[in-house]
Amino acid sequence: MLTEVTATRYVTPLREGGSLPGIVEADDLGTYVTKFTGAGQGRKTLVAEVVCGQLARRLGLRVPDLVQIQLDPVIGLGEPDQEVQELLKASGGLNLGMDYLPGSLGFDPLAYEVSAEEAGRVVWFDALVNNVDRSWRNPNMLVWHGDLWLIDHGASMIWHHNWRTAQAAAAKPYDASDHALAPFGPDLAAAAAELAPRVTEELLTEVAADVPDEWLVDEPGFETPDELRRAYVDVLHARVQGLAERITLGPRVERKQSNAPGWLTDHLAPWPHPTKDKKGAGQ
Ligand SMILES: Nc1ncnc2c1ncn2[C@@H]1O[C@H](COP(=O)(O)OP(=O)(O)OP(=O)(O)O)[C@@H](O)[C@H]1O
Ligand SMILES: [Mg+2]
Repeated sequence: MLTEVTATRYVTPLREGGSLPGIVEADDLGTYVTKFTGAGQGRKTLVAEVVCGQLARRLGLRVPDLVQIQLDPVIGLGEPDQEVQELLKASGGLNLGMDYLPGSLGFDPLAYEVSAEEAGRVVWFDALVNNVDRSWRNPNMLVWHGDLWLIDHGASMIWHHNWRTAQAAAAKPYDASDHALAPFGPDLAAAAAELAPRVTEELLTEVAADVPDEWLVDEPGFETPDELRRAYVDVLHARVQGLAERITLGPRVERKQSNAPGWLTDHLAPWPHPTKDKKGAGQ
């Protein structure tokens, strides 16, 4: 289960996000980028954030900590913006919080160097969860303290919008030619050798257990939240086999020399990354 906190203050909306995420403070004195259940994208976006975010972290990739945020819409009463008011009113109960990384910058492929190994791990992971939202147009990665952090997995696992065909989707190829890290020569073979054996049913079951029941109930065709969790485990587990061979990278592009100042890029941390997750593999 994710740590649960209670929202104490709505700070400001993040207008660059399509789902109107907001910065929210909570009773643990944390500050979180919050994705709301009342957003038009629906609760499956939040399920995808939890399953993919927790899985990525357990595989040793950097993802800001996730929490479930209990929200009383009353905290939005003073909000001048009607769109925000309505979103908060529609989002009473549990919402998803991601630890806010103060001072982080959006990843810019022309400004930051990423090793072939790290690029390989990220692309392989995105192929596993069918993430179509890490293109050079919208990288959904942040650079913080010189390291690359993954955010925004809400559009992943597209197959969970149609469970009847989900199992068949597990065998589908993944086109990474638009991926923001494709120009870095991702080493997919190395990533697969390292990560595939770690994506076990046991790990996937633990990750699926982190999704709150209330985002899983009443899914047509499933009696219980656990039955639905099992379906996520089955599709992801089936997808691992031979995944690297199903990824298309497109032609290798010659990258320009980085123009970024050295203070931003000189201290990328070596692999494996230290992780705060006690259960996390790769420590
Ligand atoms: N943990 C974080 N720390 C700091 N800033 C963040 C964090 N998460 C998100 N942001 C900022 O908020 C923006 C929107 O977040 P995110 O991409 O997750 O929202 P979204 O509504 O799913 O966006 P979209 O679907 O339009 O890409 C990011 O581009 C980034 O600038
Ligand atoms: Mg985004």
